[in-house]
Amino acid sequence: MACPDPHSCFDDAQPRTASLNLDLVADFEGKVLRGSVTLHLAWPGEGPLDLDTRGLVIHRVTGGHGQDLPFELHPEESILGSRLRITLPADTAAVTVAYETVPESSALQWLEPVQTEGKVRPFLFSQCQAIHARAMVPCQDSPGARVSYTGEITVPGDLSAVMSAGPAGDVVNADGTRTFRFAMPQPIPPYLLALAIGRLESRELSPRSRVWAEPETVGQAAWEFAEVEGIIQKAEALFGPYEWERFDLLVLPPSFPYGGMENPRMTFLTPTLLAGDRSLVDVVAHELAHSWTGNLVTNATAEHFWLNEGWTVWAERKILAALHGEEAARLGWALGQKALEDSLERFKAQPQLTLLRTRLKGVDPDDAFSSIPYEKGARLIASLERAAGPEAWRAFVRDYMAQWRFQALTTEQFCAFLEEKLPGLLRRVEADTWFHMPGMPRDAPVFDSPALDGLIRHAKAWPERPAPGAWEGWSPARQLIYLQNLPRPLPAEDCDWLDRSFGLSAKGNHELLVEWLCIAAASDFEPAFPALRAVLTRVGRMKYLRPLFMALGATARTRALARSIFEEASPGYHGLSRRVVQGVLDAYAA
Ligand code: BES
Ligand code: ZN
Repeated sequence: MACPDPHSCFDDAQPRTASLNLDLVADFEGKVLRGSVTLHLAWPGEGPLDLDTRGLVIHRVTGGHGQDLPFELHPEESILGSRLRITLPADTAAVTVAYETVPESSALQWLEPVQTEGKVRPFLFSQCQAIHARAMVPCQDSPGARVSYTGEITVPGDLSAVMSAGPAGDVVNADGTRTFRFAMPQPIPPYLLALAIGRLESRELSPRSRVWAEPETVGQAAWEFAEVEGIIQKAEALFGPYEWERFDLLVLPPSFPYGGMENPRMTFLTPTLLAGDRSLVDVVAHELAHSWTGNLVTNATAEHFWLNEGWTVWAERKILAALHGEEAARLGWALGQKALEDSLERFKAQPQLTLLRTRLKGVDPDDAFSSIPYEKGARLIASLERAAGPEAWRAFVRDYMAQWRFQALTTEQFCAFLEEKLPGLLRRVEADTWFHMPGMPRDAPVFDSPALDGLIRHAKAWPERPAPGAWEGWSPARQLIYLQNLPRPLPAEDCDWLDRSFGLSAKGNHELLVEWLCIAAASDFEPAFPALRAVLTRVGRMKYLRPLFMALGATARTRALARSIFEEASPGYHGLSRRVVQGVLDAYAA
C-alpha cells in the first residue's frame, strides 16, 4: 500500500530495509561519528534505492560482494535533507554505506566536559524523533519502515556507550579504545535509533531495569526511580506483557531538549526529573507507556503523531491512577489542560496545527510540536472510552495492540479498525470534529474535582494568602496547580512573600521552580534574575525554555535580560532548543 510520508523519500515500490548493522567510531575531537552501515533488504532488489540523509558525508557505497555501487547524493532540501540514491545491481540483498556525520548533525549533541555533571569528560547523545535519524544514519527514515539493528560503537577507553538495544558485550582494543556491541532484535521505527556516550555508571533497580547516569548523579537517580518495577507491573496489568525485555533508564546532561524519549530498552531522561521527592515519575510512566503505544503500535508519519502521544498520555494517566489513585490522575489531566490551553493560544494564527490529523507537507515536525497531539489526543481517547464503556474499551485496546503490534498506522486506518470493532462509536463522539476541526470540540471531557476547583479558586483569590501550613500539606502537583493559577504580574512584595514563604527559589522540583520563575519573570522581579539566569544557562529542556523566555517578554528590562541570557546560554543549547528560544525572542520585537 502506498504510504506517502511527507517527511521521507521512502518509496514503497523499492525494497524495504529489514535490518541495519552499524559500525561507528566516535571521534570526540572531530565531533563526528565515522564508519559504516550495512542495510539488509527485506527482498532482493534492482534499480534505485532511495535513502534519507541529512548532513552526512558519504564516502563509498558497496554491494554484497564488496563491489562499488554507483550513488548520487541529491541537493539538500531544507526540511527533508538529501536523498541518497543508490543504484542496485540485480538481486542485491545488502548494501554498505561508508560515511561520517558532521559536527552540527541535527541528531547529535556533542557536549564539552563543562556541560556534564562531572566536568571532566565530553558526552554525546542522539535525539532522532521525529526526522533526525537520517542525520546519524542513512536510512529509510519513515516510521513505517521498521528495522532491527546491531551496533558496534568504538569510544575512548574511559567512556561507555549505550543504545536503544540490548547490550551484547564490549571489548578493549589494542589502541586503548573500547568497542561496545548492541543488538535490537525487534523491528523498530528508525526514530527510535539512539546512542549516548559518556562517563556512565549504572545501578540495578529491578531484575529488568537499571538506571545509567554520570557517577555524580547515579545514586540520586537510583533513589528517584527506585519504584520503576512497580510502574512496569501496573502498566503490564493494563496493557499486557512488557515486550522489550529490559526497561533501562539513562539520565542525560541538562541540555537534553526533552523531558523523556522512549528509546526502546533505554529511555532517555532529563536530569530535571531528579526532584529528590519522586514526584516526577509521571514522565517515566509516560515513556514506559510508549512501549505499547508508539514503540509497538506506531504512527505512520508525523501527520498522525497523536496516535503516539495522545494514546500515551491517556495510558500514562491510567498508570498514574493505578499507582496513586483517581485523584492523582485527575491532577495530571488538570495540568495537561493548562498545557493544552497554552498551545491553543500559541497556534492562534496557525489553526491547522491544532487539528489532530495534521497535514505537514512543507512543515518541519519540530515546528509543529506542541501539547495538542498529547492533550487533545488523550481527551479524544478518553471520550471514546467513556462512550464505549470501560469493559468494551478494555477489549478494544487489547484487540488494537494485538492487531497492530510492530506496525505503523494512519488516523484513517485507526478509524477503520475502530469502526469495525465498535461500530458507530466514532460518530457518537463526533470524531471528525476532533480530527479535522481546529481547537477543542465543545463537548470535550473536562476533568475536575472539588479539591481542584478549590485550589484554583484559592489561587485566583490572590492577594488572599493560603492559610498557614496549607501549602506544606499540598502534594507537588497541587502546589503546581496553585502557582499556575496565580495572577501575574504580581507586585514585588507579593513575589518576595511567595518566595520566602514557600522556598520557591530553592526548589529541586523543576516544575515548581520553573513555574515560580515564570511568575517572577512576568512580574519583572529583579531578585529572581540570578536564579533565572542560572536555570536558563544550565537546562535545555524546551518545555521550560519556552515559557520562561515568553514570560521574560514582560518589560523592556526583562527582554534585555532574556537577550543577555540567550547570548550566554545558546552555545550550550541543543540545536532544537536554540531554535525554539530564537523564535520566542524574535516574537518580542513583533
Ligand atoms: N516522544 C516524546 C518526545 C518527542 C516527541 C521527541 C516528538 C521528539 C519529537 C516523549 O515521549 C515525550 O512525549 N516526552 C515528554 C514527556 C511528557 C509528556 C511526560 C516531554 O519531553 O516533555
Ligand atoms: Zn511521548
